[in-house]
Amino acid sequence: MDVSIIVPTYNEAPNVAELVRRASAALEGRRAEIIFVDDSTDDTPDVIREVTKSAVLPVRLIHRDEKIGGLGGAVVEGMRAAESDACLVMDGDLQHPPEKIPELLDRFARSDVDIVVASRYVGGGTAHGLADRTRVLVSKVSTAVTKAMFPVKLRDVTDPMTGFFLVDRRTIDLETLKPRGFKILLEILARKVFRVAEVPFDFGDRHAGESKASFLQGMHFLAQLAALRFGKMSLFAVVGGFGAVANILIVWALTAVGVNYIVAAVIAAEVTIIGNFLLIEHFVFHDMRHAASGVWSRFAKSFAFNNAEAVIRIPIVALMVSSGHISAVLATAITLVVAFFVRFVFHSLVVYAPRKAGAHTSAVREVLEEIDEQAMQPGEI
Ligand code: GDD
Ligand code: MN
Repeated sequence: MDVSIIVPTYNEAPNVAELVRRASAALEGRRAEIIFVDDSTDDTPDVIREVTKSAVLPVRLIHRDEKIGGLGGAVVEGMRAAESDACLVMDGDLQHPPEKIPELLDRFARSDVDIVVASRYVGGGTAHGLADRTRVLVSKVSTAVTKAMFPVKLRDVTDPMTGFFLVDRRTIDLETLKPRGFKILLEILARKVFRVAEVPFDFGDRHAGESKASFLQGMHFLAQLAALRFGKMSLFAVVGGFGAVANILIVWALTAVGVNYIVAAVIAAEVTIIGNFLLIEHFVFHDMRHAASGVWSRFAKSFAFNNAEAVIRIPIVALMVSSGHISAVLATAITLVVAFFVRFVFHSLVVYAPRKAGAHTSAVREVLEEIDEQAMQPGEI
């Protein structure tokens, strides 16, 4: 067997036959099987059984009574059952064109990578099948945030949210995966450093039926992100909390000795910004310093960002209060929360970004892998 094609399905009855037909045509001349891992509540299992009879490729159906782990859980179950170690995962609604499969297989056959990712965001790839502008924005923002949270592991991956990829099952530890919801590739990639290659693809329109994406799936995704990378971000929050308290104390102390309150606020802000930088250097991003740019360059970026943030945030609060009829306290709280995430993204993506590896890729890479290994451990103050 050259490849096992794993297709998670939830009420995809009108798409099954077409998928098997196009995948079979694309896989002509290769030894392949198609495994549907199905959680449907409609007649999808019957349709799959019917298609099995006339299919040129072996088609298997795993129907689950309990949809544990949702889409991700189904994929892991399919990988366990696969004949081949090469497991190709794709959706059952034809948004992932089966005609791309040979390209993924050929890339994989070069044997220099563990995972081949079909990406919407590289080369000629597109995401035009995303339902509307909101989903495009959600996809772009969540991809950026995710990459920022795993700057080393996702360095070579432009589309960690794709559900179209080929993986050598032997390189992943299926037992340690905690599949939850839609983003199974991220779950895999976040665990260790893989050798990844990408091929571009057009994320097309659904053949038939409806998307199962939902607000709840979005919440699952956020919980997954937090669980995978909670250590660093929570520390970053703790340091931010210290900074806020320090800020208040400095303003209080200075005004108590008669300093003008605006002067006091400015001094407090600058002292806190510098203090925060020192704290995150030592407690949050300490394991990424060595691969990042020099300390003065890091400081300059951090300092500039925090000052810009302070300057920009105040007029935004004013705007929210004057145009949105919300209280100044609420507007301040909202902007502080947003600023926290933006600050975290900026620091892990820009301030502590690994220097470009250049000619010494493998040596630098080894160091980076080790550093990221460390970065996964929750930090301690
Ligand atoms: N077995 C199983 N169980 N399959 C499921 C479940 C579930 O609970 N939920 C969804 N699926 C199947 C669908 O039947 C479909 O084949 C595939 O998973 C993707 O679901 P869609 O409903 O088509 O969602 P989408 O188009 O919004 O999501 C796709 O695009 C994302 C990128 O934006 C998927 O490819 C995601 O994996 C991908 O991340
Ligand atoms: Mn879809």
